Amino acid sequence: MATKANIVLMPGDGVGPEIVAQAVKAMNAVAAKYDVAFKTTEVAIGGAAIDAHGVPLRPEDLAICKKADAVLLGAVGGPAWDNIEVALRPERGLLALRKGMGLFANLRPVAVNDVLAHTSPIKTEIVSGTDLVVVRELTGGIYFGKPSGQRTTSKGRAAVDTMRYREDEIARVVRLAFELARTRRKQLASVDKMNVLATSRLWRSIVEEIAPNYPDVTLEHVLVDAMAMRLVRQPSRFDVVVMENMFGDILTDEASVLAGSIGLLPSASVGATRGATDNRRRGLYEPIHGSAPSMAGQGKANPVGTILSFAMLLRSSLGLDDAARDIENAVEATIEAGIRTYDIAGDLTPVSTDAFGDEVAKRI
Ligand code: IPM
Ligand code: MG
Repeated sequence: MATKANIVLMPGDGVGPEIVAQAVKAMNAVAAKYDVAFKTTEVAIGGAAIDAHGVPLRPEDLAICKKADAVLLGAVGGPAWDNIEVALRPERGLLALRKGMGLFANLRPVAVNDVLAHTSPIKTEIVSGTDLVVVRELTGGIYFGKPSGQRTTSKGRAAVDTMRYREDEIARVVRLAFELARTRRKQLASVDKMNVLATSRLWRSIVEEIAPNYPDVTLEHVLVDAMAMRLVRQPSRFDVVVMENMFGDILTDEASVLAGSIGLLPSASVGATRGATDNRRRGLYEPIHGSAPSMAGQGKANPVGTILSFAMLLRSSLGLDDAARDIENAVEATIEAGIRTYDIAGDLTPVSTDAFGDEVAKRI
């Protein structure tokens, strides 16, 4: 019997629509090869939703996403919506989606392909062999803590943001990271700032309490500032790295530089498993790059991050590991055949976003 899957497509803004279109080609290739019936629904988010509906994510659209098996998103934001009040900005749509779908863990793998290692601004001998996954807590911490806001005091304007974590919020993402480490090289680095922050001291205690359940995983604690340094000095030493929301936001942008182009990197944001015996998780899948408005519509965007995000979707939300591997192999084969978008072309003649998508689909 054919596997059925309900997928929401959220192309979003800037280069979003053109890169999502390439992942859809991969989807069609998988449907043909593996007897999977994908039913897709397109939903507006970010600036596109502001233009169409006046808000970055409508409640009824969030409801559609919550019912779907998975959501594939392009990117949100752009200068057209820069002067909108904070509560209605495109990014708010993304934050509301993550929170609303309960996606507490954001997985950002950074694997350096040998043939592209030289395109990184970091020395080839340093980046070569890097294969790590950052697990970023996604629905807590300073992004969501209250109070948050600005007011005027007798001494002038003052603003506050609040970093708050409960132990269950830390424990679930830490457990997920340990589980992931178990399926890989069995090393986990937990990043915190326990020498200064109370939330980090709680974080470290919880990690220590959970660690005995995973005696097969080697654990180390790294302070976030030291981690910023070690990521560019010895990135290949890391396997799975887990951290709170804002540390993860910052360090994953840094880590993206290792791979050569930020356009190469996928991400998965996932919530709880469907059941005790069903490991699939509902999730939101998106490349880690932004909407790159100045590049939109020129066929210059690299669709690899989005296509690999779709592979993560197949694996984590649908349990289709073979199809996911096929897509990953097809991307690798395309790059190794010298077919490159302009960001990773080097001395080669680049192909368009669309042509690259065709070449990947052909190899699935
Ligand atoms: C990311 C982005 C988002 C974040 C923005 C767009 C809200 O930078 O996914 O890393 O800060 O989480
Ligand atoms: Mg970010």
